Amino acid sequence: MAISPADEVIEFAPGLGFTASIALKAEPKSYTGVELNKEAVAYLQNIIQGPNYRIQAGNANATGLPDESATKVYGEAMLTMQSARQKTDIIREAYRLLKKGGLYGIHEIALTAEGSDPAIRQQIYREMQGAILSNVAPLPTAEWEQLLKDEGFAVRKVITNPMHLLEPKRVIDDEGFFRTLRILFNILTHPAAAKRIRGMRRIFRRHEGRIMAIAIIAEKV
Ligand SMILES: C[S@@+](CC[C@H](N)C(=O)[O-])C[C@H]1O[C@@H](n2cnc3c(N)ncnc32)[C@H](O)[C@@H]1O
Repeated sequence: MAISPADEVIEFAPGLGFTASIALKAEPKSYTGVELNKEAVAYLQNIIQGPNYRIQAGNANATGLPDESATKVYGEAMLTMQSARQKTDIIREAYRLLKKGGLYGIHEIALTAEGSDPAIRQQIYREMQGAILSNVAPLPTAEWEQLLKDEGFAVRKVITNPMHLLEPKRVIDDEGFFRTLRILFNILTHPAAAKRIRGMRRIFRRHEGRIMAIAIIAEKV
């Protein structure tokens, strides 16, 4: 989903700001990030600055931002970890925020055909929910698409890729060596986070071939 200087962008859950920094390189007309975690909000407010760039604390399911105020809305690695109800509420909020013709981009975890087998799917959910203590629930591609369609979106593009999230090489390639060092430092100094990340990595390895990365671009028509 290419972002241009004409775009008014809203990001759901900018987290550590990796995806925000990619979007901001395109110098959009405006950028608003809506993030739930207060520590992440404080961190992001320090690094994201500019008259039309801001980070607000809050839930992506009810941002309080005006109707039809964005040309692009996106979120990365945030919908997968929501309950079914929350997934719907967040997608509905994206729809409300977009102008007609605007695009919503998601980058999440999906289940392959093998991972969609009901018994395997339940096993993956149990393991993931045990590891990161949340509602994390990846969906088969068709279910991701359906959620977007149910809220009025037209699905324009679907891309799937084998899962490399949290693999060291991937982080280094994508984000640069020093960023990786900083993340590692944060993980090392937060043992609980480190444990969760190790747990997730083990699950991803065990279920390689059953889960994949999915990116979908949907249009408000
Ligand atoms: C994996 S991180 C996102 C990573 C981000 N794309 C980046 O580049 O750093 C997930 C983030 O989603 C945030 N989050 C989870 N649920 C949320 C919600 N309902 N509304 C806003 N933020 C949420 C979490 O606080 C966390 O910072």
